[in-house]
Amino acid sequence: MLVNNMRVITGIKDMRSVSKEARMSGKTVGLVPTMGFLHEGHLSLIRAAAGECGFVAVSVFVNPTQFGEGEDLESYPRDLERDTGLAEEAGADVVFAPGVEEMYPDGAGTVVHAPPGLTGVLCGRSRPGHFTGVATVVLKLFNIVAPDRAYFGRKDAQQCAVVKRMVRDLDVPVEIKVMPVVREKDGLAMSSRNTYLSPEGRSTARAVHKALRKAEEMVCSGILSADEVKAGMYKILNKAEGLEVEYIEIVDPETMEARSDAGANALIAVAARVGGTRLIDNILVSSEQWMVSDRRRGVGNDE
Ligand code: PAF
Repeated sequence: MLVNNMRVITGIKDMRSVSKEARMSGKTVGLVPTMGFLHEGHLSLIRAAAGECGFVAVSVFVNPTQFGEGEDLESYPRDLERDTGLAEEAGADVVFAPGVEEMYPDGAGTVVHAPPGLTGVLCGRSRPGHFTGVATVVLKLFNIVAPDRAYFGRKDAQQCAVVKRMVRDLDVPVEIKVMPVVREKDGLAMSSRNTYLSPEGRSTARAVHKALRKAEEMVCSGILSADEVKAGMYKILNKAEGLEVEYIEIVDPETMEARSDAGANALIAVAARVGGTRLIDNILVSSEQWMVSDRRRGVGNDE
């Protein structure tokens, strides 16, 4: 199928053979897994993949197995035509957009469970089963596309940790590239779910970034106690009317284990609800100095 001028593949067999052909012709295969409704964050992943790989597949699949009961599976925004145009512009070679029947012909069967230490904390606490759904569909995509490299955004830091661990533990021959958070001008991390926010909600949501900037300021000024940094962040978030904090955690980005300090290589992560919209965001303290990655868009992503 051609949408815009982009080849859209819906069948697993077809995707496998197109990817194999690219590999046989000596191209490095890159995969950008997405649930569609592409935004600048996704496009930055596609551009990065296009810069490093001779063939880039973008998957667009709203994966039902990673949504819990009462979550937004039905209302999740979808627009394949828009996605294919954007993916093509950003340098994708094909869009893989299978239906649910194609991916799960008998419903969810065999699944991938990442270790509970990794999935039972942060987002996993309020979304049981979510990371099993993610790990399972990502492994399926890896088995279908067989990419040399796969690109993920660090906004979903826990997802990145789960995927990296799965790849390590199950010996999946793919290199995982974790790319910086991309933000709106006012600092809000890009997300397909931002479309759910009302204009007031949108303005309330800015507190999440403000709290992370506060954490950055504290860390840069030498305040490295995790409790103190969290307290500074809570002060800002608790003032934001209509915003409910789900968690503020300072953890190791690979193991998701809580840290008592916010020093080198600490991940400072937030989840909050504004109206019915769940927002997540984070910053990563650099390993070299007390500098924090992911500045505002336009100021430069400095990872
Ligand atoms: O990050 C996402 O959009 C999804 O969790 C992913 C990785 C595409 C799996 O469905």
